[in-house]
Amino acid sequence: MKSQSFGNQIIKLSSVDSTNNYTAKLVNQSKISFGTVIMADFQTKGKGQRSLFWNSDKGLNLLFSIYIDTSFLKPDNIFYLSKSVALGLRQCVGNIIGKEVLIKWPNDIQVNKKKIAGVLIENQWKSNNVSSSIIGIGLNVNQSNFPLENKASSLFNITSKKYNIDSIVRLLCSSLHTSINELRLGKLNEIDKDYHDFLFNLNKWALYEYEKIEFKGKIIKVDDNGLLNLELKNGDIKKYKLKQIKLVL
Ligand code: BTN
Repeated sequence: MKSQSFGNQIIKLSSVDSTNNYTAKLVNQSKISFGTVIMADFQTKGKGQRSLFWNSDKGLNLLFSIYIDTSFLKPDNIFYLSKSVALGLRQCVGNIIGKEVLIKWPNDIQVNKKKIAGVLIENQWKSNNVSSSIIGIGLNVNQSNFPLENKASSLFNITSKKYNIDSIVRLLCSSLHTSINELRLGKLNEIDKDYHDFLFNLNKWALYEYEKIEFKGKIIKVDDNGLLNLELKNGDIKKYKLKQIKLVL
């Protein structure tokens, strides 16, 4: 199977609703080839997970989508794409800052318990199989002030250095290429192990909230369906989807 190059073509926009939406439009019009990156200085309707917005000050951060061929992926293994992307992004950020970088389920990237990057993957399907994927990444680079200061950070806030966003794109394309190639090669066990090695709060008791009720839980794993498996104090194991559960502390 031919491995596709990432970032072979880069489209830079000054302002767009969402780089993921823009990429999807090009896909629908068959005007994009695999490996193409769409970047923007600003998004008017940046999309986040849990149906939330992704806010980012103009020109300061990386707002990035890449269109890739994922037709090799079996539908049962779809969450492995999320794991691979999180690992590639984590590796890239780790190489830049030289500090511990963790993955918060499902694929947030965090440093010192603050989020510095988020991922939104949107898949295209043909009958019952994935044909391609749009991987959207927001990475906080040079922004220094955040509305949720105790929850968000940036490369600048961590290292006190300013970064060239184009250079980061090149590093990110290379890291994602490596991590997604592991997936293409079917190294599911390795991907799963690496993901859990860097998973925030694995095997640690913490406070969670489900249907407005707080309780203590311990992450024992993220399963192949991407569900968070929590052990409860009474020994039960419960599985949660993203929209159902929130970490409190
Ligand atoms: C999250 O909520 O953690 C995911 C955030 C993903 C944001 C990125 S920014 C570039 C791309 N375009 C979007 O509209 N969203 C993703």
